[in-house]
Amino acid sequence: MATVERDLKSLELTAREHWGDGPPYEVFKQLRGGCPIHWTESFEDFPDEAGFWSVTTADDIHTVSRDWQTYSSERGGVLAAAAGFPIELARAMFIGMDPPKHDRLKALFQAGFTPRRIAAHEEAIREIVVRVLDRLEGRRTCDLVSDVAQPAVSRVIGSFMGIAEEDDAIWARLMNSTLGAADPDLNPGGFEGALENDLPEIFDRCRKLIADRRAQPTDDLTSVLVHSEVEGQKLEEHEIVMGFFLLMAAGNDSTKATYCSGMRALMEHPDQRRMLLEDPALVPDAVEESLRMFPAFAHFRRTATCDTELHGQKIKEGEKVVMWYVSSNRDETRFQDADRFDITRKAEHQAFGAGGRHFCLGTALARLELKVLFEETLARYPQMEMAGRPAAVESLFINQLKTLPVRLRP
Ligand code: HEM
Repeated sequence: MATVERDLKSLELTAREHWGDGPPYEVFKQLRGGCPIHWTESFEDFPDEAGFWSVTTADDIHTVSRDWQTYSSERGGVLAAAAGFPIELARAMFIGMDPPKHDRLKALFQAGFTPRRIAAHEEAIREIVVRVLDRLEGRRTCDLVSDVAQPAVSRVIGSFMGIAEEDDAIWARLMNSTLGAADPDLNPGGFEGALENDLPEIFDRCRKLIADRRAQPTDDLTSVLVHSEVEGQKLEEHEIVMGFFLLMAAGNDSTKATYCSGMRALMEHPDQRRMLLEDPALVPDAVEESLRMFPAFAHFRRTATCDTELHGQKIKEGEKVVMWYVSSNRDETRFQDADRFDITRKAEHQAFGAGGRHFCLGTALARLELKVLFEETLARYPQMEMAGRPAAVESLFINQLKTLPVRLRP
């Protein structure tokens, strides 16, 4: 075996040395070229967790994503490491179910998330973003993550779910500590703290909201969950709680991540920003390029339901199969000069998944939110500059910045 190939095979992808500054794009490039289906034996932080196969190319992720019979979301959870999160809870969310149960529950939500329904919220979303930006008046610098992205996305998803505005900050803290459980800044209590304190608090708060909606239906999504029936049966309380958790988690973290990484790229590539300022009609393309280059979720996982083979690699029943979107979105067979931020690219990416049953439910909402965030930020602060070193969240799952210090005007 050639040395390079052997080195790649023995590479421990989860080692912290690779992830200090966000996803290891160079390592993934090497894997795509020399070991596209790669085995990682263990996790530094979770010695009891089983190892996993990494799928790194766009074509192979496409194959896995569309074949739910062979690659199940239900059998073993949807993250590379469960990190103590009980499998019954993962299976109570439709992201952790296989058809037919998945399809019945997802259909329930799809009606509320159609592009037309979502487009009707544009004005309300713009108002939220403008209000958040108004609070910066008189300031020279700010942190784009905590001063703009977090309050804006929290209010957008909060208003969809029927959360009171004064509770947005509490929910943001709770979602950050559970999704960013590996990062000591987002989650000072460690994995145990997240499981023992934050998750129960999320569930308690959610049950209170459910009780309110039972007593008094409204038109928010929590009310939809409480009152809907799937084949004549109301959802059970834990299914409602976990449906709520799934939407809050997806809504809180993802758009925030893409907005901040995209804004950073625009500040680091003045030519691209100039193009955008001269032609704001390019904003949707800049959103797509930000989604491609910085997918908010680094991976989702499946579990093999039978012995199978992928790209010539034998995979055994029960083994974990992890789809790395941070790799496939820079696959050189799909994208020319893949590491270059180019808002004119118009390329199809896999940030929202690679098709199949679990394709992201929130694409229309995410795209609209990102468009409005980019438009309003650029209109108000066309010359915003970085004012310090941004820091990435420590995580194998969420790909986002935890700080992005900026100077609002030169
Ligand atoms: C930048 C924004 C976003 C990105 C990059 C993103 C990414 C993803 C990805 C990759 C999946 C696929 C998971 C899989 O294949 O297992 C997914 C699923 C999902 N997303 Fe998003 N998402 C975003 C925004 C949102 C928003 C705003 C919502 C709703 C509030 C949302 C709700 C969901 C739901 C419910 C699923 C599960 C779908 C299913 O299992 O059928 N997402 N998302």
